[in-house]
Amino acid sequence: MTIAIDGPAGSGKSTVARTVADRLGYLYIDTGAMYRAVAYRALRDGVSIADEERLTQLAEGMQMEFVQDADGALRLIVDGEDVSEAIRTPVVSQLASPVSVLAGVRQRLVALQRQMGADGRVVMEGRDIQTVVFPEAEVKIFLTASDDQRARRRYLELRQRGEEITFEQVKREMQERDQRDSQRSLAPLARAPDAVEIDTDRKSIDEVVEAVLQVVRQKAGAAGVGD
Ligand code: DC
Repeated sequence: MTIAIDGPAGSGKSTVARTVADRLGYLYIDTGAMYRAVAYRALRDGVSIADEERLTQLAEGMQMEFVQDADGALRLIVDGEDVSEAIRTPVVSQLASPVSVLAGVRQRLVALQRQMGADGRVVMEGRDIQTVVFPEAEVKIFLTASDDQRARRRYLELRQRGEEITFEQVKREMQERDQRDSQRSLAPLARAPDAVEIDTDRKSIDEVVEAVLQVVRQKAGAAGVGD
């Protein structure tokens, strides 16, 4: 079974997708990390965000692989370098959004994502998984949450990592990114017509995970399969 989970920043996607994958023994793929990796490389190599051709070449030349470390955490390895921490800084967060607008970059990353999920038994999360990457996924989940709740989650996450940032700054930057991610012409954040929408505002992670697993069980039952 292929499980596609999409939603805006701070909707709880990553935690929910990771936990669902753990519970089912499925592979977990965080596609946002891949867009972040291209932004990180562009920054490191001094490639301008305005230079679509060079950014596309950069993405096409990057080998990406997800591996689990001893604690079970997902690490992203790009050309042999573990970029898992480097891609989580606020500057990379801001750059990943304009990078993800570019057709050449998306084409390359979508192709990689389809390869990574080709064998099924995968939980893939992002913005366009249920609409573009795996529109035929058996389970499609769209997570939502209010702006304040999403900003609060992101703020706490960044503070825990020791970033000096204010709540207002996090909220403003998140709204800017969301607007771009939802309004771009190519593969904008969108809900598939047959997706199940879950509002995570007043729900614990466990409740959201349970709601997703409920959809999985229904689909498995309807298809008459165990996985
Ligand atoms: O989920 P995230 O914040 O790590 O994603 C980083 C950026 O990548 C975000 O601005 C939107 C973009 N993205 C995308 O365009 N398509 C995806 N499938 C995943 C992320």
